Parts: sequence; C-alpha cells; structure tokens
Amino acid sequence: MKTILITGCSSGFGLEIARFFLDKGWRVVATMRTPRNDILPASDNLEVLALDVRDAGSIRAAIDAAGPIDVLVNNAGIGWMNVVEGTPMETVRDIFETNTFGTIAVTQAVLPQFRERRAGVVVNISSSVTLKPLPLLSAYSASKAAVNAFTESMALELEPFNVRVRVVLPGRSPQTSFGDTARARLQGQGGFPAPYSDFAAGILAPRAQPSDAPVTHSADVVAAVWQAATDAASPMRIPAGADAVALAG
Ligand SMILES: NC(=O)c1ccc[n+]([C@@H]2O[C@H](COP(=O)([O-])OP(=O)(O)OC[C@H]3O[C@@H](n4cnc5c(N)ncnc54)[C@H](OP(=O)(O)O)[C@@H]3O)[C@@H](O)[C@H]2O)c1
Repeated sequence: MKTILITGCSSGFGLEIARFFLDKGWRVVATMRTPRNDILPASDNLEVLALDVRDAGSIRAAIDAAGPIDVLVNNAGIGWMNVVEGTPMETVRDIFETNTFGTIAVTQAVLPQFRERRAGVVVNISSSVTLKPLPLLSAYSASKAAVNAFTESMALELEPFNVRVRVVLPGRSPQTSFGDTARARLQGQGGFPAPYSDFAAGILAPRAQPSDAPVTHSADVVAAVWQAATDAASPMRIPAGADAVALAG
C-alpha cells in the first residue's frame, strides 16, 4: 500500500485529493493546521495530523508521526490580490512564507527518506497565473513562480536518486473558498489604493470575467495530482482545468 502526505487538507483541493487517494486504496496522511476528523470518511487508511507549513517544529513532528511516505503533495497556500502599491511588505512576506517557504520547508523534511529509499514523488501545487502576466496578482504570482523554479531545479538534483518532482498548475477555481479568502484579506487591509480603484474595478468587472469562461474544478486538480503521483512519464508541468490547459497551450 502506498502512502501520500498532503498539506492543507481542511478544504478545497487538498480535501478532495485526500478523498480521492483514500478511494483508490492508498494510505492517506491528511495534514491540516487545525486537525479535524469529521471532514473525511472514517478509514483505517486515514491519518489526520497537525501541520502548519510555517512552523518548523510542526513540520518535523508531522513527518516523524507519518512514518514512511511515497508521495508528498505541497498544496497549502494562501491568496492575495492587489496592486504592488497596495501590498505591504508584511503581506508579501506572509504570502511567500506560506506558498513558497512552506513548500520548500516541507520538501526538505521529506527528501532524506526519498533519497535513501531511492524512490518518492514530490508534487507542488502552483498556479496557472504563472503562465501569463495578470494585474493585481504580482505578489501571489511571484510566490508561485518561485515554486515552479524551485521544483524544476530540484528535479535535476533528485533524478540520480530516482526521486520524481512535478508541478501542478491549476486554473481559477471559484469552487473552493480560495478567492473569497483572498477578497476578505483585501478588504481587511483597506482594499485597493484610491489611484488604482477604477483600474481594479475594470479588471474585476463581470464583463472581464464572463460567467461562461472556462474554469478549473477540484476534480481537474485531483486528476493532475494522480497523474503526477502515478505516471513516471507525466510532464514536469501539469496544467489542471480547461482555463489552465488553454493558457499552457
Ligand atoms: N482556487 C484557485 O483558484 C486556485 C488556483 C490556482 C492554484 N491554487 C492553489 O491551490 C492550493 C489549494 O487552494 P484551494 O483553492 O484549495 O483553497 P483553500 O480551500 O483556501 O485551501 C487552502 C488550504 O491551505 C491551508 N493553509 C493555509 N495556510 C496554511 C499553513 N500555514 N499551513 C498549512 N496549511 C495552510 C488552508 O488551511 P486553513 O483551513 O487552516 O486555512 C487550506 O486547507 C493553494 O496552494 C492555492 O494557491 C488555487
């Protein structure tokens, strides 16, 4: 039986990835900042552990408690939307701390066992925003572009040890609470700076995001992670969702 450890399983993609691999008969270590035992089906193959990707002690404890794992999915992430002038450095650091440094820290904690066993897969959840410059997303896109670069460089070092590394690029998914959380953070920090308010309103106007535009569903991300985890011939970058596939084309 193979074991997968996933970060950020309390909601969204992480929760669905955990559910899918459980259905497939894998042992699933579903990690969350605040562990909950009531959101995934009860199973002898399921272990729910506390893991905050910003906390070195929490990472160490979770990896020790998880035992040997075969696949790591770095899924935990936070969103942010604002112009550069409306993004305090504290917020930039906050985004990188979770999306970029958190991904690197959890990967570092898992690599020794993969290298020693000469087996293992790391799947990093990035974003299709890294495929095309988009306004209001400079800090978030930078945090995810760094994940792409980190992943692609690390893959070269790990190839001699038969350790595989992939990056999944989901498109925009209104299905998860990700966008709402990012919007709440924006409002909590005062919204868009006045000189940019017309510009931002134009970007966010309904006509700029038609309701029939292609989007990404959790199932697309789950399928991409499954491909990354199980198919040695999968590409390094795997777009997930119709909008992401179109951008990558
Ligand atoms: N939805 C989209 O449009 C979209 C598009 C492209 C890429 N993505 C990426 O997909 C990933 C999952 O996002 P989602 O859409 O599923 O959103 P989501 O429902 O908000 O899930 C994000 C998850 O990350 C967790 N998390 C946040 N900070 C954490 C930390 N310090 N340590 C551990 N876990 C932490 C959250 O846990 P808490 O409940 O504790 O906050 C939550 O479980 C993210 O990396 C995101 O950047 C999303």
